[in-house]
Amino acid sequence: MNSKRAIPVRERSIVLIGFMGVGKTTIGELVAKKLYRDFIDTDQEIEKAFNMTIPDLFKEKGEAFFRKTEKDVIVNLCEQTKYKVISLGGGAFNQEEIRKKCLENCIVLHLDLSWENWKQRMDILIENRPVINNRSIDEIEQLFIERKSLYSEHNSRIETDNLTPEEVADYIVETLKLGWEIYQPGK
Ligand code: S3P
Repeated sequence: MNSKRAIPVRERSIVLIGFMGVGKTTIGELVAKKLYRDFIDTDQEIEKAFNMTIPDLFKEKGEAFFRKTEKDVIVNLCEQTKYKVISLGGGAFNQEEIRKKCLENCIVLHLDLSWENWKQRMDILIENRPVINNRSIDEIEQLFIERKSLYSEHNSRIETDNLTPEEVADYIVETLKLGWEIYQPGK
């Protein structure tokens, strides 16, 4: 039997997942501010730890090293922290252990942007995203589709098409507050 007590829902960190460039960092910062919580971007944590950008880390140490580091950072955050807002890199949910820890300890929100809208952002994203900067548009679309099934493991999905980051953040905060009110353990 698992003797570890589940983290009460109001204390759980909020984790944002979704494809590269959907706005996880921008929206995460806004949500954190509105909830008076600290914000953590796991890619920024890795960049700080190695004093290197993500593209340089991929180039110098390789993707496998990045993925192992990403897993350690996220699992540690899930196990050691509460009351945060955390944005993950778009590939993090590819790792089962990350998915499992996040869903066990946090509230996982999928920021879902349509392919049509994502395509319009592609040019400004591609340079700093080593996972896609050598791929054709068809290959990127394929990855987009594959990733979507990984992101389907979430607590809630937010369609972000045609919404500003501020609007998405407001919607998330309202929905969370409603959920926290409804979910009153012991009552
Ligand atoms: C990646 C997404 C990036 C970053 C790295 C790999 C991916 O984060 O972690 O370049 O595999 O999707 P963003 O989703 O913040 O762009």
